Amino acid sequence: MPKTPFYITTPIYYPSGNPHIGHCYTTLACDCLARYKRMQGFDVMFLTGTDEHGQKIEKKANEAGVDPKKYVDDIVENFKRLWERIGITYDRFIRTTDDYHIESVQKIFKELYDKGYIYKGEYVGKYCTPCEAFWTDSQLVDGKCPDCGREVVDAREEAYFFKLSHFADRLEKLLTENKGFLEPETRVNEMVNNFIKPGLEDLCVSRTSFKWGIPVSFDEKHVVYVWIDALSNYITALGYMNDKYDDFEKYWPADVHMMAKEIVRFHSIIWPAMMMALDLPLPKKIYGHGWITFNGAKMGKSTGNVIDPFILADRYGVDALRYHLLREMPFGSDCAFSNEIMINRINSDLANDLGNLVSRTVAMVIKYFDGTLISDRESDKVDEEFIGMVTTLKARVEENYDNFHFNIALTEIFKVISRANKYIDETAPWVLAKDESKKVRLATVLYNLLETIRITTILLNPVMPNTTPEILRQIGADSEITGWDSAGKFGVLPQNVTVLKGEVLFPRIDLDKEIDELNAVLASQNTAGTEPVKKEIELAPEIAIDDFTKVELRVAKVVACERVKKSDKLLCLQLDDGMGGRQVVSGIAKSYEPEDLIGKKVMLVANLKPVKLRGVDSFGMICATDMPDGGIKVIFVDDDVEVGTRIR
Ligand code: ME8
Ligand code: MG
Repeated sequence: MPKTPFYITTPIYYPSGNPHIGHCYTTLACDCLARYKRMQGFDVMFLTGTDEHGQKIEKKANEAGVDPKKYVDDIVENFKRLWERIGITYDRFIRTTDDYHIESVQKIFKELYDKGYIYKGEYVGKYCTPCEAFWTDSQLVDGKCPDCGREVVDAREEAYFFKLSHFADRLEKLLTENKGFLEPETRVNEMVNNFIKPGLEDLCVSRTSFKWGIPVSFDEKHVVYVWIDALSNYITALGYMNDKYDDFEKYWPADVHMMAKEIVRFHSIIWPAMMMALDLPLPKKIYGHGWITFNGAKMGKSTGNVIDPFILADRYGVDALRYHLLREMPFGSDCAFSNEIMINRINSDLANDLGNLVSRTVAMVIKYFDGTLISDRESDKVDEEFIGMVTTLKARVEENYDNFHFNIALTEIFKVISRANKYIDETAPWVLAKDESKKVRLATVLYNLLETIRITTILLNPVMPNTTPEILRQIGADSEITGWDSAGKFGVLPQNVTVLKGEVLFPRIDLDKEIDELNAVLASQNTAGTEPVKKEIELAPEIAIDDFTKVELRVAKVVACERVKKSDKLLCLQLDDGMGGRQVVSGIAKSYEPEDLIGKKVMLVANLKPVKLRGVDSFGMICATDMPDGGIKVIFVDDDVEVGTRIR
């Protein structure tokens, strides 16, 4: 019987900086899913790649003084090196600079034009260069990019448009009625309320102001909008409208497009509309996970805010890194990366719980049975509940892997591992070993432990593919009895199994010593060889001191804070300003949770004309900076400074 196809994609990453832990999460989640599905017998296609066109890359290359293709080539190599290092089993890697992709995108654009879904017009609006996104005035927040909060620039040019508005009703229906199309479900409301309900406008899909892109085949001064180019990768990589591959029929529609939340909009609105326009089946699922944050902001390409995965893989091993990332990211929300949490997690789950279970069990089989168990058995009541928990584990893990709740799947597995350690304490094999008449009971206990190790190890394989074969080797499990299905059966190991002593699987890490060393390594990496950055910054016209003193900056303390309803960007802050208090609305909700701010002192622009934002009054604003990765950092004031104090 032919295997059922299963198609998984990561976003194609911008090669505008080296990959970091944030990129690793999505890619690992997809890899875990791909390995799991392969073990279940699916014919998996796992696609990843790089998104190499657009003004942002062109700018970066110019800054670096190299040709854009040369610039991306080097970074793409680093992505590939990392994926190899952390065991990513992608089946295909697409670069949007590949000839076949370029050819397909030109044909797709032409097809949409011929069908009347792309037409020529004039674009007037705003453009956010870092996000490569066009915005209409009504979509801006505080006059800034609603995604990243940065300044936008005026844009007006002859351009082609995609009739996105035409698909508004179908898209709304798709998002609201097709349960499971977009997950987590909370993102559905966000898309419908923020983008579709206010009225979908046609999308500008070509640019003439820069060159680094795919030319429109029938009007070569235009290059195709980078998102149309990028999204198409999911089908061009299967051979849609090109001869490079020919498995489009087999794998499309995708079973899941995985990504972080900031690009869900493109995938759940523009991409399905493109599929509708091309008369192609829609992808089955869009899954938008949260961000890995570090030092309070989305981990991104800005210096100081990224953790180099190579260093972590070298210090703790690839499997520990994989386990940590998949175990920590909660469903639907963000995950703060912390070296300390990672090390504690490795010590408690991997070294203590799993590592000890395996080494104690194997050691006891060697000590009490010379390594080979006897075949007689004698069960006891305590076995029943324990074995029940082990045999039903596979179903619980599958449910969670299938829903991308990797953290819960791992929690379930480790509950069983803890339970097994408790079973050792309950049955006290060292006491049984003293009494020759308990030999059969002792063999039964050890066998139950070996089976538990076998089952949990198989289920852990997609997450820890390097360590699990070693564990199976130690417990004497041949490859015939390590298949996915065998994890649902208890009693598969031969009754007279022979175990083998092996290396310590996960050495314990000395937390304090390691944190110091790691910080030193990370710090030297962030500064080594880097010269002070010199950027071309165009300053605003010079002002006199009188102009500056017109701005009244004062210290204020955040006493309460909540999200503004129906906005994922705005927080409403109540400030103690030393003048009786006031309310300020600020576009920082993507970078801060309300509780992060309470008690903090901030710089308030105290004499700013009041405005209403999303219907909420704002009396002044608080000072913040834009991070290169799109996050925002509030400027906090030292706690010793009293509220109301003027800043000058
Ligand atoms: O958006 N936490 O590329 P990109 C979690 N080229 N995930 C993170 C992350 C973090 N801190 N940082 C990055 C693009 N990611 C486009 C995509 S697709 C047709 C085009 C992951 O290099 C996450 O999957 O900015 C996010 O969606 C993706 O990297 C964005 O990568
Ligand atoms: Mg991005």
